Amino acid sequence: MQAIMYAMAAFAMLSAGPGVAADEFVLAQKSGCLSCHRGAEAQNGPAFKDVAGRYAGGGSAEAAEALLARRIVAGTGPDGLGWMREGKAKLPFMPPNARVTPEDARRLAKWILDVRGEFTDFSHFVSERVAVSGAVKQPLDLDVNALRKLEQREIPVALRDGGRQMLKGVLLRDVLKQAELDVQSHHDGKKTIVVATASDGYRVVFSWLELLASSMGDGVLLILEKDGQPLADSEGRIAMVSAGDNHFGSRYLKWLKTVEVRKIID
Ligand code: HEC
Repeated sequence: MQAIMYAMAAFAMLSAGPGVAADEFVLAQKSGCLSCHRGAEAQNGPAFKDVAGRYAGGGSAEAAEALLARRIVAGTGPDGLGWMREGKAKLPFMPPNARVTPEDARRLAKWILDVRGEFTDFSHFVSERVAVSGAVKQPLDLDVNALRKLEQREIPVALRDGGRQMLKGVLLRDVLKQAELDVQSHHDGKKTIVVATASDGYRVVFSWLELLASSMGDGVLLILEKDGQPLADSEGRIAMVSAGDNHFGSRYLKWLKTVEVRKIID
């Protein structure tokens, strides 16, 4: 536990960047807020700039912070507050964010009330390499150059706006074949999972057989390029998608950092 806390403190110091607000930005990313919210653009949730516009400056700042902090933890459902009806959000209510502590919710609320524009500095999260560990014969630590030396695949994906995008990179299957499952019995593959973790802590899970022995694995790509361009800081340098998933719930992560192979039954 102490080791974890120390690591977190070290991360917070490293990521302090310009001004105090960088810490809250990292907290917002790690708390999952930025999968629904942006600084200036409406997404699933309203732009934080619009939230600030509505609540900052009216009554007491303390009261606004306390109100938003409560809503951040509890959510705004099921009837919602109406951001979507006003065309400023794409979901009708915010689900609870029950893992956010009241103290962190308060910090986030205070920070949100100060947001004035789009978030542009994602440099804290950029990952240049991915480590493969766990139940494998050959743990790997691959940087972008090493990944480029593996067989490159291209997968076209449909975008929400109707367009298409060409993703290029390496199949997770090819990486796992290099690492090689540490087999004790020939059933091991059936009780092994693969946990992919991003530098902001976001995780998705696959089963070993899904990746190695089913067509789902044909679409699980470590993305190095989109339409011929390396990935920007906002998701790079290594992202990952499961292109065979149903579009709405697809497993996708930015800033891929580690891949851990775990046998779950022994
Ligand atoms: C699943 C998507 C989603 C996630 C994740 C999410 N929000 Fe929201 N958020 C929304 C939506 C949608 C609304 C508009 C709610 C409504 O109209 O009822 C909203 C509204 C808000 C508001 C305005 C509330 C008000 O009183 O008007 C704040 C502040 C906010 N979110 C902060 C956060 C923070 C901080 C996090 C992370 C801990 C977070 N949100 C995570 C979707 C999300």
